[in-house]
Amino acid sequence: MPPNRTQVAIVGAGPAGLLLGQLLLKAGIDAVILERQSGEYVLGRIRAGVLEQVTADLLDEIGVGARMHAEGLVHHGFEMLYGGTRHRIDLHGLTGGKTVMVYGQTEVTRDLMEARAASGAPTVYEAKDVALHGFDGTTPRLSYTLNGMRHELACDFIAGCDGFHGVCRASVPRSALTEYEKVYPFGWLGLLADTPPVNHELIYVNHPRGFALCSQRSLTRSRYYLQVPLTDKVEQWSDEAFWDELRARLDDAGRAALVTGPSLEKSIAPLRSFVCEPLRFGRLFLAGDAGHIVPPTGAKGLNLAATDVKYLAEAFIAHYKQRKDAALDAYSHRCLRRIWRAERFSWWFTSLMHRFAEDDAIVARLKDAELDYLMHSESGLRTVAENYVGLPLDFGE
Ligand code: APR
Ligand code: PHB
Repeated sequence: MPPNRTQVAIVGAGPAGLLLGQLLLKAGIDAVILERQSGEYVLGRIRAGVLEQVTADLLDEIGVGARMHAEGLVHHGFEMLYGGTRHRIDLHGLTGGKTVMVYGQTEVTRDLMEARAASGAPTVYEAKDVALHGFDGTTPRLSYTLNGMRHELACDFIAGCDGFHGVCRASVPRSALTEYEKVYPFGWLGLLADTPPVNHELIYVNHPRGFALCSQRSLTRSRYYLQVPLTDKVEQWSDEAFWDELRARLDDAGRAALVTGPSLEKSIAPLRSFVCEPLRFGRLFLAGDAGHIVPPTGAKGLNLAATDVKYLAEAFIAHYKQRKDAALDAYSHRCLRRIWRAERFSWWFTSLMHRFAEDDAIVARLKDAELDYLMHSESGLRTVAENYVGLPLDFGE
């Protein structure tokens, strides 16, 4: 029988929920995770793959960083391609030695799942129809259906780590929250293939035909993206058509180096900027995609989720170990400050690198001029680099 009482009930076993679970476990705080899907389903989702230093440090802190260090690729920079020319952003040189780790979110999730399974901490997969009760009082609880039977889980706090479409934010009365949202008028068609990456570093491409991104999962596995109209269906895109379009958006060196092959996965993702304010409602705390979404251009989604749960774990630890609630009270404000800065960068970088149908000729030229300025100015390069590697955990007052 699954437990019917815990200290922190976590809804969602994506990276946010699993990371929080491990941080609490390490601190000796009891938590149960309820996940709607099966473990295999969660691992089947292909997501982004760039970890900031603070995220990599967090994985180390909870003892799940070994495979990341063995298999992940430390990147010291990335390239921007526009007007047919590549420009390198030297992340390491521009940020006083910071780097990013290229390691798939799917792999992060797998490592976290294995660590949790090994610890014996309870995760209830395929928990259907999760419902939240009493989080505005002192005795919150969750109810859910498992194998056709309804169960209850009483707790001190609920952590809503159930993603954008989850039940936690949806359970808050509309009058208690404000949602800020922008849906972009295009999507990203992603393709994963067991081919060597076209370049040793990522290439972000601004091209008159639309944005493209050349990313990677390893030295033998590539991940590419194309900006496509939202009306496109993935079935319309054969592998051949994808490779042809990618070639058309690359430079000569890229076209020459590109190795194509059959796709392992192909999907279209919409792009959205979204923030919910606040992130706390009584004894319910939202973290990760449940509280905010960034378009993937800045690779910030997983990293923001990681810093949310770091702040949240610190707050729970202060509550249980020191009987102090100041950090719980400050959680929403503290997270939102960092979230808005990442939202700003992701929105700006997305706007700069994509073609919008409504852009008239002057906007296209202005974006070219902005790129030209940025790539030829030490301050311009630095502002891109310091946002890309991730802002510090705390900015001071
Ligand atoms: N009940 C239980 N679980 C739920 C429910 C529900 N009603 N609704 C959603 N979930 C689960 C989903 O099945 C998923 O496994 O919550 C999990 C949320 O995981 P993610 O969507 O991965 O969100 P998060 O953990 O916040 O991760 C943030 O992952 O999705 C990317 O772009 C995102 O990079 C970001 C990072
Ligand atoms: C990815 O590898 O999937 C990826 C990398 C960088 C991004 C977005 C996605 O900005």
